[in-house]
Amino acid sequence: MKRLGVLTSGGDCAGLNAAIRAVVKRAITGYGAEVVGILQGTKGLMERPVMARPLDLSVFTGDILRQGGTMLGTVNTGDPFAFPDGQGGFADRSDEVIDGIRQLGLDALIGIGGDGSMRILRRLADQGGLPFVGIPKTIDNDVQGTELCIGYHTAVATAVEALDRLQPTAASHHRVMVLEVMGRDAGHIALAAGIAGGADVVLIPEIPYDLDAVTAKLTTVAQEGRNHALVVCAEAAAEDGIGRESFAGGGGSAHIGGAGQAVGTKIAEATGADVRVTVLGHVQRGGMPTSVDRLLASAFGVHAVDLAAAGHTGRLVGWRDGDTFDTALDDLPADSRVVDLNGSQARTARGLGICLGDR
Ligand code: F6P
Repeated sequence: MKRLGVLTSGGDCAGLNAAIRAVVKRAITGYGAEVVGILQGTKGLMERPVMARPLDLSVFTGDILRQGGTMLGTVNTGDPFAFPDGQGGFADRSDEVIDGIRQLGLDALIGIGGDGSMRILRRLADQGGLPFVGIPKTIDNDVQGTELCIGYHTAVATAVEALDRLQPTAASHHRVMVLEVMGRDAGHIALAAGIAGGADVVLIPEIPYDLDAVTAKLTTVAQEGRNHALVVCAEAAAEDGIGRESFAGGGGSAHIGGAGQAVGTKIAEATGADVRVTVLGHVQRGGMPTSVDRLLASAFGVHAVDLAAAGHTGRLVGWRDGDTFDTALDDLPADSRVVDLNGSQARTARGLGICLGDR
């Protein structure tokens, strides 16, 4: 392995720079390889000249490990296999991307992405005959083949901090505070933050909620003498039969959102409580990575380079039982990894008396 490419793809999150740094350090110090950083994900590979920069150890001054975002840039729209053609249609531009990869003269590619990016990158690598290794990242933590994705821990820590800030003001004003968190179709952030942040109700996409169950729980909290309550609502949580809320946010993609306001309004109408809604949004994606995300990103980067150097490609690095491991991308289920309703976190939440929206 003489020349290794690395790119970030999909929505950013905290810990991406730590992963890029680990890839570069391991490739150079472990194998004497050159590393090329591809800019703006697959979009950079469509540009001519291809958008890329050499990455050597001098790039990694002490601050990069700590920085949020991605020093390589990223895109979460514009699948090269169905790229918007500017006239309302789509064109297959995968050949341009593959040609861009060839122009860089790479022996292997490491892609840091979520499940959508992984599908695209792997298909491109297969089509172009380029050895590929994937590193999972996304605050949603919904990639198959790993218990943890880079960025998730920081997002949960941010949501817990928000609950820590909401609780005293809720208590001062006798309010029900609703916190809407991200996660797309998976409730991992909501559930973990709800448990760690002392929520009374946690609404997740995996459980269509019953408003009566939610209001019954809030009534019980009030009857037990507490003057306030905390509700965590995943952005795609939806009431039975109503479907998730979404809106066009521009930039070519539909955004999920509004679930927190929707449930907040319903709670206020049904109970007469003084309700306020906070939408945490992209605050969960930016900022300094936690130590857990830095450790995970570092371990994934080293493991991925070792796989590429050994010729074990077509694989996804993952985390299980306190260690890295890897799985053939072909063996991974096609769907996203959602909350296991019989798993430890769901059991813990129910054991604490947290209402998950069902009866
Ligand atoms: O997949 C990560 C994520 O942050 C989701 O939790 C969220 O629904 C989405 O991306 C937001 O995407 P965008 O940055 O395009 O608004």
